[in-house]
Amino acid sequence: MKRLASIAFATAIALFLQGCAGWQSALDPKGPAAGELAWLIWFFTGLCAVVWVLVMAALAVPLMMRSRQRAEPLALDAGADNRKLRVVMTAVGLTAVILIGLTLLSFFANRTLAAIGSDAALTIRVTGHQWWWEVRYEDATPSRILTTANEIHIPAGEPVRLLLTSTDVIHSFWVPSLSGKLDLIPGHMNVLDIKADKPGVYRGQCAEFCGAQHANMGTFIIAEPRAEFDAWWNDQLQPAAAPTSDEAKTGEDLFLKRPCVMCHKIGGTPAGGTVAPDLTHVASRQTLAAGTLTMSRGNLAAWIADPQGVKPGSHMPVVDLSGDELNAIVAYLEGLK
Ligand code: CUA
Repeated sequence: MKRLASIAFATAIALFLQGCAGWQSALDPKGPAAGELAWLIWFFTGLCAVVWVLVMAALAVPLMMRSRQRAEPLALDAGADNRKLRVVMTAVGLTAVILIGLTLLSFFANRTLAAIGSDAALTIRVTGHQWWWEVRYEDATPSRILTTANEIHIPAGEPVRLLLTSTDVIHSFWVPSLSGKLDLIPGHMNVLDIKADKPGVYRGQCAEFCGAQHANMGTFIIAEPRAEFDAWWNDQLQPAAAPTSDEAKTGEDLFLKRPCVMCHKIGGTPAGGTVAPDLTHVASRQTLAAGTLTMSRGNLAAWIADPQGVKPGSHMPVVDLSGDELNAIVAYLEGLK
């Protein structure tokens, strides 16, 4: 019976701790900034747990002793008073030392975080919108500046500087496995340096309530080896792929004639809207609508046919399309790899 109980307890703890792992966990760090913060979280939690146990013990021991000494409750004992004073002063002194120690640890952790991106070779401007992320890769050569959305590719093992701002309300950029969170504020630029130690996909989430679809404002950091990252950047700089089927060609024509073109840009076509995600290589992304749907033909159709059903309140309007027209536009967008 005892054995069964301990197995059940161990299983419960294991399941509980399972929540601490994965691609969106501050306790499963995959970069130096997140590592520093995770260490700090565990150290603070551990130390505070020890202090809590000691305080509870200090409370429990006199309570138990008092019940035994009830025989002479009013006896005066100057020595005992002095001992009590010493205990209290020691406790106050220890508390001060611990608080100052934790403050210093936070201060030095901050300095470590600030040093991560001091030699960053890559700068990415991330702009928050209700409810998606505009991602712009800066480059000294204007023709190499790249704008995309919602997914941020970075070279693994290299520090990257993110410049964070917003066009509407305050959002907050948070990829827990890689770094702490930082706000995106209209009219203000915040700097966040990140680094992923190894290639992988790390999920991020807007961490500041920003309206109806705050929860559906996800982002993905895709860290890859330098050569793959460079190849990706070069691919993304290319204009959109020309439609390869009649249906896709019809879709392109429809896209350019309908209101889609007012908001979205597709490189190499007259579509040049900038208030919504750039769709030049939309089908190369893993999700749609900032992590709301996985990228697939069916989800593209669902999103275009009923954006308010998928993401109520989003600024994507319903465009009146027949079934054939919808299929054609989906066939076109699906080819934008
Ligand atoms: Cu953007 Cu919450």
